[in-house]
Formats: sequence, C-alpha cells, structure tokens
Amino acid sequence: MSTSAASASLASTAQRMPLIRLRGITKRYGQGQAAFLALKGVDLDIEEGDFVAVMGPSGSGKSTAMNLLGCLDVPTSGQYFFRGVPVHELNRDQRARLRREQLGFVFQGFNLLARTSAQENVELPLLYRGIPAKERRRLALQALDTVGLAQWAHHTPAELSGGQQQRVAIARALVTSPKVLLADEPTGNLDTQRSREIMELLWRLNSERGITVLMVTHESDMAAYAKRIVRFVDGLVDSDERNAHPLGAGGGAAAATPMQGAR
Ligand SMILES: Nc1ncnc2c1ncn2[C@@H]1O[C@H](COP(=O)(O)OP(=O)(O)O)[C@@H](O)[C@H]1O
Ligand SMILES: [Mg+2]
Repeated sequence: MSTSAASASLASTAQRMPLIRLRGITKRYGQGQAAFLALKGVDLDIEEGDFVAVMGPSGSGKSTAMNLLGCLDVPTSGQYFFRGVPVHELNRDQRARLRREQLGFVFQGFNLLARTSAQENVELPLLYRGIPAKERRRLALQALDTVGLAQWAHHTPAELSGGQQQRVAIARALVTSPKVLLADEPTGNLDTQRSREIMELLWRLNSERGITVLMVTHESDMAAYAKRIVRFVDGLVDSDERNAHPLGAGGGAAAATPMQGAR
C-alpha cells in the first residue's frame, strides 16, 4: 500500500472509531506463581463527549484500566485505539506525547507539590512543554479561574482545604486543554459537600466544554452525575448502562433538564 493510501485508510478508520476503543485488554501483574490477571479481556468504546462513571468492587481492575487508558502503563495484550491511533503499537515516547497532549489526570490524593503555590502547581505541565513564563502564568490563572480559585493562586496546598486542593489538581489537568479527563476516585478523600462540588465541576467541564470525562467512584451518589455507568467485576466489564437523568449543576436532577429525544 502507498503512503497516501495508508494514511487515507487510517483516516477513515479514525472516522469510524469512537474516541476510545479497548479490545481484549488484559493486564497481568507479576510472574510465574505470583502472576495475577487484573484485567481479563476488556472491551470498551467511549464516544467523544461522554461522561462515564467507572464503578465496581475494590480490586476489580478499575485503577489498572484507568492507568492503561492514561498511558501510565501498558497492557499485557489487547488493543487500545485513541482517535483511531493504535496506542498498543506506540513506543514509550509516543505514548508520553499522547498523554501530555490529549489526557488530563486527577487522583484521589491530589498529588500537588507541597511547598509550591497553586499557580505554580498548575503551571507545571506547561513548563514541561516549554511554554514561556508569561503565557504559563496566563493559562494557569485562567484554569484556576475555571475551578473558582483565582483568588487562591498564591496559596500553598497546606493553606487550602481538601476540596480546594482537588480543584487545583483539576486546574492542573485542564491547563493543557486535554480531550479527556481521567479521574481515579477524585472524591475519595472528601466529605459529601466537597465531593458534590467536584462532581458539579466535572459535570460543567463535560457539558459546557465537551471534555470527555472518565471517573472512578465507589459512591452511587457521585456516579449519578455521569451519563453512563460502567461496572467492573473481577477484571471484566460486568455492566454498562446509560443514566437517563444525570444530576447536573446545583445537585438536582431538575437542574439537568432532560433533553427530549437525546439518546
Ligand atoms: N502493581 C501491582 N502489582 C501486583 N498486583 C497489582 C498491582 N496493581 C494492582 N494489582 C492487583 O490487581 C488487582 C486490581 O487492582 P486495581 O486495578 O487497583 O483495582 P481497583 O482500582 O478496582 O480497586 C488487585 O487484585 C490488585 O491487588
Ligand atoms: Mg483503584
């Protein structure tokens, strides 16, 4: 096949593909007697603009799947396509680039640098990209404004509440304008009120900016904000359901006006 024919066929494949496609993904940890199969052949499609809550018992493979999706780890076997690109065929540098350019991460433990201001924490991903200082500052302040923390830019994490720290972490994930936000139990360390604020923020980023959100949570109250709930059991997708009436901003189902005829 000529180069142009190859790229044309790749382009048409990309058009038919969802944003994310997993096929037969397995992940084995350890070797020999100690080997453990954490994912046993996961198939999953995620369309651009979706808001997915990933649920399931502890140890069912949720974090393993998120790490693979986020290019933080590689599967033992199977295929992962991101916008039609076969991620399973990329080398380490190509994966790192995909991660930097298209994906944003939020973790349960916030993972902020302790002695560093909110603004500098948010600037970090831009520093790695070689963006000049003035532009970094502008983008970081913009991202902090999006999460409602513009006035806290010069405070360190210790001076912020848990909920505020998680919002700084979300600003850091957003500052590079990712296509996808991956959040592994982002409300796991927060009380109900702070958790709701985080969920409303994720809901807003999804509904107003079209960012695709994948979020792991144990709590059905938090999963209720998502458009779709995927449940893992024992290393496999056990159920996959649409949420007809996701909670919206304000925390009430009524706030998210049910859209007539929308899927
Ligand atoms: N780095 C690792 N080495 C060995 N086993 C692991 C590792 N990470 C996870 N596991 C195991 O894989 C299984 C799935 O883990 P994980 O994906 O973290 O589950 P979940 O996020 O659903 O709680 C668990 O049994 C866990 O003990
Ligand atoms: Mg986990």
